[in-house]
Amino acid sequence: MPNEIYPPSAEFAARAHIGSMDQYRSLYQRSLNQPAEFWGEMAERELAWFEKWTTVFDWQPPQVRWFMGGKLNASYNCIDRHLETWRRNKVALIWEGEPGDSRMISYQELHRLVCRFANVLKSRGLKAGDRAIIYMPMVPELPVALLACARLGIIHSVVFGGFSAEALKTRIQDLEAQVVITADGGYRRGREIKLKPAVDEALTECESVQNVIVLKRTGSETSMREGRDHWWDHLGREEGEVCPAEPMDSEAPLFVLYTSGTTGKPKGIVHSTGGYLLETTLTMKWVFDLRDEDIYWCTADVGWVTGHSYLVYGPLSAGATCLMYEGAPDFPQPDRFWRLIDKYRVNIFYTSPTAIRSFLKQGDQWPAGHDLSSLRLLGSVGEPINPAAWDWYYRVIGGERCPIVDTWWQTETGAIMIAPMPGATSLKPGSGTLPLPGVEADLVDLQGKPLGANQEGYLVLRHPWPSMFRTLWNDPQRYEDNYFKKVPGAYMTGDAARRDEDGYYWILGRVDDVMNVSGHRLSTMEVESALVRHPAVAEAAVVGKPHEITGQSVACFVTLKKGDYDEQQLGGELKQWVAKEIGAFARPEQIRFTEALPKTRSGKIMRRLLREIVTSNSVSGDVTTLEDLSVLARLSSHQDED
Ligand code: WTA
Repeated sequence: MPNEIYPPSAEFAARAHIGSMDQYRSLYQRSLNQPAEFWGEMAERELAWFEKWTTVFDWQPPQVRWFMGGKLNASYNCIDRHLETWRRNKVALIWEGEPGDSRMISYQELHRLVCRFANVLKSRGLKAGDRAIIYMPMVPELPVALLACARLGIIHSVVFGGFSAEALKTRIQDLEAQVVITADGGYRRGREIKLKPAVDEALTECESVQNVIVLKRTGSETSMREGRDHWWDHLGREEGEVCPAEPMDSEAPLFVLYTSGTTGKPKGIVHSTGGYLLETTLTMKWVFDLRDEDIYWCTADVGWVTGHSYLVYGPLSAGATCLMYEGAPDFPQPDRFWRLIDKYRVNIFYTSPTAIRSFLKQGDQWPAGHDLSSLRLLGSVGEPINPAAWDWYYRVIGGERCPIVDTWWQTETGAIMIAPMPGATSLKPGSGTLPLPGVEADLVDLQGKPLGANQEGYLVLRHPWPSMFRTLWNDPQRYEDNYFKKVPGAYMTGDAARRDEDGYYWILGRVDDVMNVSGHRLSTMEVESALVRHPAVAEAAVVGKPHEITGQSVACFVTLKKGDYDEQQLGGELKQWVAKEIGAFARPEQIRFTEALPKTRSGKIMRRLLREIVTSNSVSGDVTTLEDLSVLARLSSHQDED
């Protein structure tokens, strides 16, 4: 299997949006040779504009603007324009809660829900340019909240429900949000995960927030603060179902999404309205080959960029029927996903390699009991997919009939950048294959010099693309320094990759201090800063450790302040501490105590060595710059904690 090539079947190609390599190549060439004509044409065809743009794009590195002078509204594009067509009664969202409750929401119904909630926001005095933090479980009101904000031009920032009160607080503060939209809680593995208490805790230090709107999902006991907190339903009862969509500048920020960078402070990635919407819409057709009759399911939580682009904005703008599921994949049994595919006859299924690996481990008996024959296309995102996982996904889930689109992109890129067009591109398992139209990918060395075939290097994107992020919230300097300084004029992705003799890209992973745990980005520095906030910790160094299921896990090296400690107990306490400071998904798998950390003479922690220790428990290579070789010796001989 590993070196095999999978060309599209004639049957798939015949019905696909892009059905041949010639078609792909001509689109790609045009997008690079005549970018203004190409993107202008796409924007005209794919989106509804209130006012047409005057200039397609303006690139003054590192600043780019797309469709200047154009006015549109993302909520209008995702809902209203479908109401003028037969789609008005098409199901937009099929939702299933973890306990088994379900809802079907048509585009018409979605319109009513969004307008009503937009009117709620309006009546709280919110207007274009204001900021809303959204901290909710995976229920239909979550996309409704996003779309209601977009309708009024309120910039939203979704904080994944797994983040702690502390993480929520720093995001609210950085954004100076006026409103928090949340719920009493949600369901996960049969238990209620409460959300409102974390909001209350965060808000003890957030003066900007005047209103908290709380959806009743679980109905459990929830404390409400008079004057500040309001029930969603209660406010909604007063409002009407008409709310015109605000004409927004194409460049107006649609949302901010915080993601981990190489420092302890998360970065607020700012996305635009017009460019973002255009490319998320187009990739639904290019990559997912979406047809009107499809049932499409992206398993990502809306708290991450995949949920924004491929559960809300892209698919709804493209008029899709989307399945949305609230809970855990293995509740009440490990076959929940296969049960859902069978029940709703899902055609397109998009998930992460971590999920695939855990399904593989649980065994073939779980999918075997279900009819998965409705599937026609599979997708993967977030991490490189290893051959064993690819093969299992292809055979057991796809029945050897469904192409797998391995989609490479990032929070910063907004939309998929490197991926197959499944009716055109031959697949090579483990490769994201070729760049999409408008994506001028390249590989360079440390000096920025382009590399040849099969050489490993840094992945950069040279020409700007419409869905590219525009800046970092409150930190334009960091935007420039982080991404555009290393290779002049080009965007540095932070990933290493190789390009083979056919021009196919093979992503090797991050080259910076960002870990990838279950497809979630987590910075080593963020975990280190959390650890050193603990009173017993003097110093900490964190590295990603290869993990069979989650890709990487969090491994910590900790030196303690003077004192008597029970290391076993403290190890457990520190894991819990990190979970509380950042969120449960960041909980370290391993804490190792050490008397000192290996450092260079200039005092920099030698992470490469630590990575080697956690990977192989031995160290090779050049260690002559080490400050104290005995530290290294002690670390290497130290056995795993658990
Ligand atoms: C990694 C998620 C290999 C990569 C959409 C990137 C991938 C980071 C793939 C972005 C893939 C994403 N193959 N690696 N198909 N997709 N990555 O911002 O390291 O959460 O830089 O966006 O995930 O993670 P983010």
